[in-house]
Amino acid sequence: MSIPVLTIDGPSGAGKGTVSRLIAKKLGWHYLDSGSIYRSLALALQKAAVDITAVDDIVSIAKAMVLEFECNDELIVKLNGEDITPQLGLESTGSIASQIAALPEVRQVLLKKQQDFKQLPGLVADGRDMGTVVFPDAEYKVFLTASAEKRAARRYKQLKEKEIDANLMQITIEIEARDRRDSERQAAPLAMANDALYIDSSDLTIESVIQEVINLIH
Ligand code: C5P
Repeated sequence: MSIPVLTIDGPSGAGKGTVSRLIAKKLGWHYLDSGSIYRSLALALQKAAVDITAVDDIVSIAKAMVLEFECNDELIVKLNGEDITPQLGLESTGSIASQIAALPEVRQVLLKKQQDFKQLPGLVADGRDMGTVVFPDAEYKVFLTASAEKRAARRYKQLKEKEIDANLMQITIEIEARDRRDSERQAAPLAMANDALYIDSSDLTIESVIQEVINLIH
């Protein structure tokens, strides 16, 4: 029996996480937040004091790390048994994640870990290369984006809600740098799959984005 997969790719702060989690809940499907895997690896490297240029060491840590995901209202992630959820969302973690995500050796090791999420009754997968590289045969594909200003403002609000210290100007600069790195890298750059539905969420509510995606599936 084929397992349905919905991929939602796009730049950071476009609303992929919120939209994907709510749709997975609505459909009763599994949820893969692929960015959290790259972020977890970034934290594992920090803990082991491994430099982001030491490719062999990074690959060994990526192979050995044990991740556990619990998806309730929020995604809880454990790295080798330790809850790392609070550090996972920091922009500094995202920035290291995007630097190691540019390494093809790292992407290769993490590929299977991501593909293993594809299980019945279905999967919603969010990231940068879900529809292009990890699940190219997915039945449903969405590319969700928004203007850089809107994305920075949303990220700022999310951090404030979590009582994490944040500066809007700094976040805008970091998001733009990360977008550039993610789009310009050689290995699996952020790109829209040819068969994806394009949604610009700049002026849309979460509910209307969800409705558009649900319409695609039905
Ligand atoms: O989506 P999120 O902001 O959590 O991702 C953190 C970083 O991980 C991204 O900036 C990107 O460099 C990397 N990533 C990736 N491929 C994915 C998901 C995330 O390269 N599928």
